[in-house]
Amino acid sequence: MTENPLKHKHILLAVSGSIAAYKAVELASQLTKTGALVDVILTQAAEKLVSALTFRSVTGRKAFTDSDLWENEEHVVHITLARWANIMLIAPASANSLAKLAHGIGDNLLSVTALAAACPLVVAPAMDAGMFSHPATQANLKILQEHGAIILGPAEGHLASGLKGKGRMLEAAELYAHLRYLLSRSNKLAGKKFLITAGGTQEALDPVRFLGNHSSGKQGYALAQAALDAGAEVTLISAPSALTPPVGTSFIPVVSAEDMRIKVMDHIEQADVVIMAAAVADFRPAVSRTQKIKKESKLQELKLETTTDILKALGDYKKSKKPAVLLVGFAAESEHLLENASRKLESKNLDLIVANDISRSDAGFAVDTNEATMLFRDGKQLKIPKQDKEGVSQKIIDTIINLLQE
Ligand code: CTP
Repeated sequence: MTENPLKHKHILLAVSGSIAAYKAVELASQLTKTGALVDVILTQAAEKLVSALTFRSVTGRKAFTDSDLWENEEHVVHITLARWANIMLIAPASANSLAKLAHGIGDNLLSVTALAAACPLVVAPAMDAGMFSHPATQANLKILQEHGAIILGPAEGHLASGLKGKGRMLEAAELYAHLRYLLSRSNKLAGKKFLITAGGTQEALDPVRFLGNHSSGKQGYALAQAALDAGAEVTLISAPSALTPPVGTSFIPVVSAEDMRIKVMDHIEQADVVIMAAAVADFRPAVSRTQKIKKESKLQELKLETTTDILKALGDYKKSKKPAVLLVGFAAESEHLLENASRKLESKNLDLIVANDISRSDAGFAVDTNEATMLFRDGKQLKIPKQDKEGVSQKIIDTIINLLQE
């Protein structure tokens, strides 16, 4: 079953001496809440900024310090930790720790464990901008990258020195999202290419106004996350949305139905699965004016024209060129839910349609929950009980995994 790939994973979080160490506490907490097992290593400098007890309190597990290297009854604690880990993240990674890692120096628990670890090594540098841009630090990062380490950040922004510049460690939520992505890559859908659309298209009337709809993009973005979690490579084509694309998506922003059609058709050839979760406008203004429509024009009527049905175009493409592509659509209905959805499944040549009753206040557009019925080509129907859109997305992705296996 599709789930957050961080669940039950062994994450070795190594904290070195930077004020950003406090963000590592937040990260350890978020990972633990997801169900990951988090073991923490602190350097002596890190211990001055945040204590082992702080980490122990949020992870419910022992946090290791240099004293464990020499005083522990287990004399190879670094080997045990290195072998236990599915991934090792050094966050914050100070300039000093990066230099040691790049040159194979092992003089504390963090560095000897990093030397011993065969799992992926991720580093999140945090330091003053001048230290980060120093040729020695840059050269060390290059060496680490050549050795296969994954470097995350740093970001631009306010630094502990009071200055602004590049050196800020990524936020806990960003590091969490990167780990989630990195740990999903060998899951069931590895190698499968998903094309997912999301959001509500906007059809311009003039430079300031548009015809739009209530779609927030939540369902489409949640589907992108669930497909990534299951190991897929995801291209997310999104109409304007306030949401942040999940880490790992190849993101293509669009505005109108026509923009979306062009981008979808550009990518269909590579796709194994297409999920059209976007609320695509069926009509657009026949004329989009280049100048603002003035009040004095006393505009009374708008002339509209129909847009292309992208999913129908995909259905035709499937029929004539690529029968193997799996097409999934949504049906947003305010009445005769199943009849209308089943008609759309047929007329658009889909493998699966997810029917949503949009007349309800707890399902469909712009709410956090959804309840739906999946309809299949062979007439089979499967209900997805009411739950958050993440849960609904996981069910849909599980169903797609089954269809791909058939
Ligand atoms: N869709 C599309 N292109 C359009 C309109 C819809 O690709 N121009 C896709 C949607 O992304 C969705 C499916 O078609 O996956 C059904 O959309 P929906 O709005 O429910 O139905 P329509 O086909 O537009 O029909 P109607 O509005 O008459 O219900």
